[in-house]
Amino acid sequence: MDRDQILELLQTSGESLKELMSRAVAVRNETIGNGVYFRGLVELSNICAKDCLYCGIRKSNRDVSRYELPDEAVLEACRFALAHGFGSVVIQSGERSSPDFTDRIDRLLQQIKILSEGSLGITLSCGEQTEETYKRWFASGAHRYLLRIEASNPELYKKLHPNDTFHAYERRIESLGFLRNCGYQVGTGVMIGLPFQTPGDLADDLLFFKQHDIDMCGMGPYIEHADTPLYVYRDQLLPLTTRFELSLKMIAILRIMMPDVNIASSTALQAITPDGREQGLMAGANIIMPNLTPTKFREGYLLYSNKPGLDSDALATTRHLIESVAAAGCTLQLNAWGDSLRFARRSSIPPPIIS
Ligand code: 5AD
Repeated sequence: MDRDQILELLQTSGESLKELMSRAVAVRNETIGNGVYFRGLVELSNICAKDCLYCGIRKSNRDVSRYELPDEAVLEACRFALAHGFGSVVIQSGERSSPDFTDRIDRLLQQIKILSEGSLGITLSCGEQTEETYKRWFASGAHRYLLRIEASNPELYKKLHPNDTFHAYERRIESLGFLRNCGYQVGTGVMIGLPFQTPGDLADDLLFFKQHDIDMCGMGPYIEHADTPLYVYRDQLLPLTTRFELSLKMIAILRIMMPDVNIASSTALQAITPDGREQGLMAGANIIMPNLTPTKFREGYLLYSNKPGLDSDALATTRHLIESVAAAGCTLQLNAWGDSLRFARRSSIPPPIIS
Protein backbone atom coordinates (compact mmCIF):
# COMPACT_ATOMS: atom_id res chain seq x y z
CA MET A 1 0.00 0.00 0.00
CA ASP A 2 1.44 3.39 -0.88
CA ARG A 3 1.08 6.67 1.01
CA ASP A 4 -1.75 7.97 -1.17
CA GLN A 5 -3.76 4.80 -0.73
CA ILE A 6 -3.28 4.94 3.03
CA LEU A 7 -4.35 8.58 3.09
CA GLU A 8 -7.47 7.71 1.16
CA LEU A 9 -8.34 4.89 3.55
CA LEU A 10 -7.79 7.18 6.55
CA GLN A 11 -10.58 9.36 5.18
CA THR A 12 -13.20 6.66 4.75
CA SER A 13 -16.50 6.84 6.55
CA GLY A 14 -19.90 5.17 6.53
CA GLU A 15 -20.19 2.08 4.36
CA SER A 16 -16.62 2.18 3.09
CA LEU A 17 -15.33 2.30 6.67
CA LYS A 18 -17.34 -0.81 7.46
CA GLU A 19 -15.85 -2.43 4.37
CA LEU A 20 -12.33 -1.51 5.48
CA MET A 21 -12.94 -3.09 8.88
CA SER A 22 -14.39 -6.30 7.42
CA ARG A 23 -11.50 -6.55 5.01
CA ALA A 24 -9.03 -6.23 7.89
CA VAL A 25 -10.86 -8.89 9.90
CA ALA A 26 -10.88 -11.21 6.90
CA VAL A 27 -7.14 -10.70 6.41
CA ARG A 28 -6.51 -11.40 10.10
CA ASN A 29 -8.69 -14.51 10.12
CA GLU A 30 -7.05 -15.90 6.98
CA THR A 31 -3.51 -15.20 8.18
CA ILE A 32 -3.41 -15.79 11.92
CA GLY A 33 -6.98 -16.88 12.66
CA ASN A 34 -9.56 -15.22 14.89
CA GLY A 35 -7.75 -16.09 18.12
CA VAL A 36 -7.23 -13.41 20.74
CA TYR A 37 -4.51 -13.56 23.40
CA PHE A 38 -4.59 -11.97 26.83
CA ARG A 39 -1.49 -10.35 28.27
CA GLY A 40 -1.97 -9.55 31.95
CA LEU A 41 -0.79 -5.98 32.47
CA VAL A 42 1.16 -5.19 35.62
CA GLU A 43 1.88 -1.49 36.10
CA LEU A 44 4.98 -1.95 38.19
CA SER A 45 5.74 1.64 39.11
CA ASN A 46 4.75 5.17 38.10
CA ILE A 47 8.10 6.64 39.07
CA CYS A 48 9.44 8.14 35.87
CA ALA A 49 12.59 10.02 34.98
CA LYS A 50 11.05 11.39 31.80
CA ASP A 51 8.98 14.45 31.22
CA CYS A 52 7.00 13.69 28.06
CA LEU A 53 4.64 16.59 27.46
CA TYR A 54 1.52 14.42 26.99
CA CYS A 55 1.85 11.94 29.82
CA GLY A 56 0.03 12.13 33.14
CA ILE A 57 2.84 10.42 35.07
CA ARG A 58 5.59 12.68 33.73
CA LYS A 59 8.29 13.50 36.22
CA SER A 60 7.17 17.10 36.76
CA ASN A 61 3.61 16.20 37.69
CA ARG A 62 3.71 16.75 41.43
CA ASP A 63 0.07 15.74 41.86
CA VAL A 64 0.83 12.08 41.33
CA SER A 65 1.62 10.02 44.37
CA ARG A 66 4.43 7.77 43.29
CA TYR A 67 4.31 4.08 43.99
CA GLU A 68 6.30 0.95 43.50
CA LEU A 69 4.37 -2.34 43.55
CA PRO A 70 5.80 -4.69 46.14
CA ASP A 71 7.37 -7.83 44.67
CA GLU A 72 4.66 -9.92 46.25
CA ALA A 73 1.92 -7.92 44.46
CA VAL A 74 3.68 -8.48 41.13
CA LEU A 75 3.99 -12.19 41.75
CA GLU A 76 0.38 -12.38 42.91
CA ALA A 77 -0.73 -10.76 39.64
CA CYS A 78 1.33 -13.34 37.76
CA ARG A 79 -0.27 -16.17 39.73
CA PHE A 80 -3.66 -14.73 38.80
CA ALA A 81 -2.65 -14.68 35.13
CA LEU A 82 -1.50 -18.27 35.37
CA ALA A 83 -4.63 -19.46 37.17
CA HIS A 84 -6.86 -17.82 34.56
CA GLY A 85 -5.01 -19.25 31.60
CA PHE A 86 -3.40 -16.03 30.37
CA GLY A 87 -0.36 -17.12 28.46
CA SER A 88 1.63 -14.00 29.21
CA VAL A 89 2.09 -10.93 31.33
CA VAL A 90 3.34 -7.46 30.46
CA ILE A 91 5.43 -5.61 33.01
CA GLN A 92 5.11 -1.92 32.34
CA SER A 93 6.70 0.91 34.24
CA GLY A 94 7.68 4.53 34.23
CA GLU A 95 11.10 4.90 32.71
CA ARG A 96 14.17 4.60 34.92
CA SER A 97 17.57 3.07 34.42
CA SER A 98 19.18 3.10 37.87
CA PRO A 99 20.87 -0.17 38.86
CA ASP A 100 18.22 -0.58 41.59
CA PHE A 101 15.53 -0.57 38.97
CA THR A 102 17.23 -2.68 36.32
CA ASP A 103 18.29 -5.25 38.94
CA ARG A 104 14.79 -5.40 40.30
CA ILE A 105 13.31 -6.13 36.86
CA ASP A 106 15.92 -8.81 36.37
CA ARG A 107 15.06 -10.43 39.68
CA LEU A 108 11.34 -10.27 39.00
CA LEU A 109 11.78 -11.88 35.58
CA GLN A 110 13.59 -14.79 37.17
CA GLN A 111 10.96 -15.12 39.90
CA ILE A 112 8.11 -15.10 37.40
CA LYS A 113 9.85 -17.79 35.36
CA ILE A 114 10.27 -19.90 38.49
CA LEU A 115 6.73 -19.48 39.77
CA SER A 116 5.25 -20.37 36.39
CA GLU A 117 7.81 -23.09 35.67
CA GLY A 118 8.67 -21.20 32.54
CA SER A 119 5.13 -21.23 31.23
CA LEU A 120 4.27 -17.52 31.41
CA GLY A 121 5.49 -15.45 28.52
CA ILE A 122 6.85 -12.08 29.60
CA THR A 123 6.69 -8.81 27.70
CA LEU A 124 8.47 -5.78 29.06
CA SER A 125 7.51 -2.16 28.52
CA CYS A 126 10.07 -0.26 30.56
CA GLY A 127 11.37 2.32 28.15
CA GLU A 128 14.80 3.12 26.78
CA GLN A 129 17.69 1.22 28.33
CA THR A 130 21.24 0.33 27.37
CA GLU A 131 21.82 -2.63 25.10
CA GLU A 132 23.44 -4.44 28.06
CA THR A 133 20.32 -4.04 30.15
CA TYR A 134 18.09 -5.28 27.33
CA LYS A 135 20.43 -8.26 26.92
CA ARG A 136 20.35 -9.06 30.60
CA TRP A 137 16.56 -8.91 30.75
CA PHE A 138 16.31 -11.12 27.68
CA ALA A 139 18.62 -13.66 29.29
CA SER A 140 16.43 -13.61 32.39
CA GLY A 141 13.31 -14.52 30.45
CA ALA A 142 11.71 -11.49 28.77
CA HIS A 143 11.10 -12.23 25.12
CA ARG A 144 8.91 -9.41 23.89
CA TYR A 145 9.37 -5.67 24.33
CA LEU A 146 7.06 -2.75 23.70
CA LEU A 147 8.57 0.64 23.02
CA ARG A 148 6.26 3.01 21.24
CA ILE A 149 7.90 5.49 18.95
CA GLU A 150 4.91 7.69 19.92
CA ALA A 151 5.21 9.72 16.68
CA SER A 152 7.43 8.58 13.83
CA ASN A 153 7.89 12.06 12.42
CA PRO A 154 10.98 13.47 14.18
CA GLU A 155 9.62 17.02 13.96
CA LEU A 156 6.37 16.02 15.62
CA TYR A 157 8.27 13.96 18.19
CA LYS A 158 10.21 17.09 19.14
CA LYS A 159 7.00 18.99 19.80
CA LEU A 160 5.82 16.29 22.20
CA HIS A 161 8.98 15.96 24.25
CA PRO A 162 11.39 18.25 26.06
CA ASN A 163 14.18 19.36 23.81
CA ASP A 164 17.13 17.51 25.34
CA THR A 165 19.26 14.46 24.63
CA PHE A 166 17.40 12.43 27.24
CA HIS A 167 14.24 12.76 25.14
CA ALA A 168 15.87 12.48 21.73
CA TYR A 169 14.10 10.76 18.85
CA GLU A 170 17.38 9.20 17.74
CA ARG A 171 17.77 7.57 21.13
CA ARG A 172 14.40 5.92 20.81
CA ILE A 173 15.18 4.63 17.33
CA GLU A 174 18.51 3.34 18.60
CA SER A 175 16.72 1.52 21.43
CA LEU A 176 14.41 -0.20 18.94
CA GLY A 177 17.53 -1.38 17.12
CA PHE A 178 19.10 -2.70 20.36
CA LEU A 179 15.93 -4.64 21.13
CA ARG A 180 15.93 -6.18 17.70
CA ASN A 181 19.62 -7.16 18.03
CA CYS A 182 19.00 -8.79 21.39
CA GLY A 183 16.43 -11.12 19.89
CA TYR A 184 13.19 -9.72 21.28
CA GLN A 185 9.91 -9.67 19.45
CA VAL A 186 9.72 -5.93 19.06
CA GLY A 187 6.56 -3.90 19.36
CA THR A 188 6.12 -0.22 18.77
CA GLY A 189 3.25 2.16 18.19
CA VAL A 190 1.99 5.71 18.19
CA MET A 191 -0.69 7.92 19.66
CA ILE A 192 -3.44 8.99 17.30
CA GLY A 193 -5.02 12.43 17.26
CA LEU A 194 -2.10 14.27 18.85
CA PRO A 195 -1.90 18.05 18.61
CA PHE A 196 0.03 19.10 15.47
CA GLN A 197 -0.37 15.62 13.93
CA THR A 198 -1.51 15.51 10.30
CA PRO A 199 -3.09 12.69 8.28
CA GLY A 200 0.24 12.51 6.45
CA ASP A 201 1.98 11.82 9.78
CA LEU A 202 -0.38 8.92 10.44
CA ALA A 203 0.21 7.48 6.98
CA ASP A 204 3.95 7.79 7.61
CA ASP A 205 3.55 6.05 10.99
CA LEU A 206 2.14 3.01 9.22
CA LEU A 207 4.92 3.10 6.63
CA PHE A 208 7.43 3.36 9.49
CA PHE A 209 6.06 0.14 11.02
CA LYS A 210 6.36 -1.59 7.69
CA GLN A 211 9.82 -0.28 7.01
CA HIS A 212 11.04 -1.37 10.45
CA ASP A 213 9.41 -4.75 9.95
CA ILE A 214 7.95 -4.71 13.45
CA ASP A 215 6.53 -7.80 15.14
CA MET A 216 3.87 -6.17 17.27
CA CYS A 217 2.01 -2.90 17.47
CA GLY A 218 0.10 -1.05 20.14
CA MET A 219 -1.47 2.25 19.22
CA GLY A 220 -4.41 4.19 20.49
CA PRO A 221 -6.04 7.57 20.68
CA TYR A 222 -4.25 10.45 22.39
CA ILE A 223 -6.33 11.60 25.34
CA GLU A 224 -5.45 14.92 26.92
CA HIS A 225 -4.49 15.06 30.58
CA ALA A 226 -5.10 18.30 32.49
CA ASP A 227 -1.79 18.18 34.37
CA THR A 228 0.41 18.11 31.28
CA PRO A 229 1.83 20.90 29.10
CA LEU A 230 0.03 19.69 25.96
CA TYR A 231 -3.31 20.36 27.63
CA VAL A 232 -3.18 23.97 26.41
CA TYR A 233 -3.81 22.66 22.90
CA ARG A 234 -7.01 20.85 23.86
CA ASP A 235 -9.18 23.17 21.75
CA GLN A 236 -7.23 22.25 18.63
CA LEU A 237 -7.78 18.51 18.95
CA LEU A 238 -10.07 16.40 16.84
CA PRO A 239 -13.26 15.38 18.67
CA LEU A 240 -12.79 12.24 20.78
CA THR A 241 -15.13 10.25 18.55
CA THR A 242 -13.00 11.16 15.53
CA ARG A 243 -9.80 10.16 17.33
CA PHE A 244 -11.46 6.88 18.20
CA GLU A 245 -12.55 6.22 14.63
CA LEU A 246 -9.12 7.17 13.31
CA SER A 247 -7.56 4.67 15.72
CA LEU A 248 -9.78 1.91 14.39
CA LYS A 249 -8.81 2.84 10.83
CA MET A 250 -5.13 2.76 11.75
CA ILE A 251 -5.55 -0.75 13.18
CA ALA A 252 -7.48 -1.93 10.13
CA ILE A 253 -5.00 -0.50 7.63
CA LEU A 254 -2.04 -1.90 9.53
CA ARG A 255 -3.65 -5.33 9.59
CA ILE A 256 -4.00 -5.21 5.80
CA MET A 257 -0.44 -3.95 5.35
CA MET A 258 1.13 -6.37 7.86
CA PRO A 259 -1.22 -9.36 8.13
CA ASP A 260 0.97 -11.47 10.44
CA VAL A 261 1.86 -8.99 13.21
CA ASN A 262 0.28 -8.91 16.66
CA ILE A 263 -1.86 -5.82 17.13
CA ALA A 264 -3.14 -4.75 20.54
CA SER A 265 -6.58 -3.33 21.08
CA SER A 266 -5.45 -0.60 23.45
CA THR A 267 -7.00 0.41 26.75
CA ALA A 268 -7.17 4.02 25.55
CA LEU A 269 -9.86 2.90 23.06
CA GLN A 270 -11.99 1.89 26.02
CA ALA A 271 -11.45 5.27 27.66
CA ILE A 272 -13.50 6.79 24.85
CA THR A 273 -16.17 4.10 24.37
CA PRO A 274 -17.03 1.34 26.87
CA ASP A 275 -16.82 -1.32 24.15
CA GLY A 276 -13.77 0.32 22.59
CA ARG A 277 -11.50 -2.70 22.86
CA GLU A 278 -14.17 -4.92 21.34
CA GLN A 279 -14.30 -2.54 18.41
CA GLY A 280 -10.52 -2.74 18.15
CA LEU A 281 -10.82 -6.50 17.68
CA MET A 282 -13.47 -5.89 15.05
CA ALA A 283 -10.95 -3.69 13.22
CA GLY A 284 -8.35 -6.47 13.10
CA ALA A 285 -6.53 -6.44 16.46
CA ASN A 286 -5.74 -9.75 18.19
CA ILE A 287 -4.26 -8.85 21.58
CA ILE A 288 -5.89 -7.54 24.75
CA MET A 289 -4.08 -6.51 27.90
CA PRO A 290 -6.36 -6.91 30.92
CA ASN A 291 -5.13 -4.77 33.79
CA LEU A 292 -3.93 -6.89 36.71
CA THR A 293 -2.50 -4.01 38.76
CA PRO A 294 -4.02 -4.16 42.26
CA THR A 295 -6.86 -1.57 42.28
CA LYS A 296 -5.43 0.50 45.12
CA PHE A 297 -2.48 1.46 42.92
CA ARG A 298 -4.42 2.23 39.75
CA GLU A 299 -5.11 5.89 40.59
CA GLY A 300 -1.37 6.36 40.37
CA TYR A 301 -1.06 5.20 36.78
CA LEU A 302 -3.25 7.73 35.01
CA LEU A 303 -1.38 8.30 31.77
CA TYR A 304 -4.45 10.12 30.44
CA SER A 305 -7.81 11.33 31.75
CA ASN A 306 -10.75 9.00 32.05
CA LYS A 307 -8.57 5.88 32.14
CA PRO A 308 -11.02 3.01 32.58
CA GLY A 309 -11.05 0.18 35.09
CA LEU A 310 -9.92 2.18 38.13
CA ASP A 311 -12.06 0.17 40.50
CA SER A 312 -12.59 -2.98 38.52
CA ASP A 313 -10.39 -5.71 39.92
CA ALA A 314 -8.57 -8.33 37.88
CA LEU A 315 -11.41 -10.82 38.07
CA ALA A 316 -14.13 -8.35 37.03
CA THR A 317 -11.91 -7.02 34.22
CA THR A 318 -11.20 -10.53 32.97
CA ARG A 319 -14.86 -11.60 33.00
CA HIS A 320 -15.85 -8.52 31.08
CA LEU A 321 -13.11 -9.00 28.51
CA ILE A 322 -13.97 -12.66 27.92
CA GLU A 323 -17.45 -11.49 26.92
CA SER A 324 -16.01 -8.75 24.70
CA VAL A 325 -13.84 -11.23 22.82
CA ALA A 326 -16.83 -13.45 22.04
CA ALA A 327 -18.98 -10.44 21.10
CA ALA A 328 -16.30 -9.41 18.62
CA GLY A 329 -16.51 -12.79 16.89
CA CYS A 330 -13.13 -13.91 18.18
CA THR A 331 -11.94 -16.97 20.09
CA LEU A 332 -10.00 -16.52 23.28
CA GLN A 333 -6.79 -18.57 23.23
CA LEU A 334 -5.84 -19.62 26.72
CA ASN A 335 -2.56 -21.06 28.02
CA ALA A 336 -0.60 -20.01 24.95
CA TRP A 337 2.02 -17.34 24.41
CA GLY A 338 0.53 -16.13 21.17
CA ASP A 339 3.84 -15.05 19.72
CA SER A 340 3.87 -12.87 16.66
CA LEU A 341 3.73 -14.96 13.49
CA ARG A 342 5.71 -12.18 11.81
CA PHE A 343 8.53 -12.86 14.26
CA ALA A 344 8.50 -16.60 13.58
CA ARG A 345 8.67 -15.95 9.86
CA ARG A 346 11.31 -13.30 10.24
CA SER A 347 13.44 -15.55 12.41
CA SER A 348 13.36 -18.34 9.89
CA ILE A 349 14.65 -16.05 7.18
CA PRO A 350 18.40 -16.73 7.01
CA PRO A 351 20.52 -13.63 7.61
CA PRO A 352 21.85 -11.97 4.46
CA ILE A 353 25.23 -13.24 3.27
CA ILE A 354 27.72 -10.44 3.37
CA SER A 355 30.60 -11.07 0.99
N1 5AD B 1 -2.99 9.67 25.81
C1 5AD B 1 -2.89 8.44 25.26
N2 5AD B 1 -1.85 7.63 25.45
C2 5AD B 1 -0.86 8.06 26.25
N3 5AD B 1 0.29 7.50 26.62
C3 5AD B 1 0.95 8.33 27.45
N4 5AD B 1 0.22 9.45 27.62
C4 5AD B 1 -0.90 9.32 26.88
C5 5AD B 1 -2.02 10.15 26.63
N5 5AD B 1 -2.14 11.36 27.18
C6 5AD B 1 0.75 6.22 26.08
C7 5AD B 1 2.12 6.37 25.41
C8 5AD B 1 2.97 5.35 26.12
C9 5AD B 1 1.95 4.41 26.68
C10 5AD B 1 2.42 3.60 27.85
O1 5AD B 1 0.91 5.25 27.08
O2 5AD B 1 1.99 6.03 24.03
O3 5AD B 1 3.89 4.70 25.29
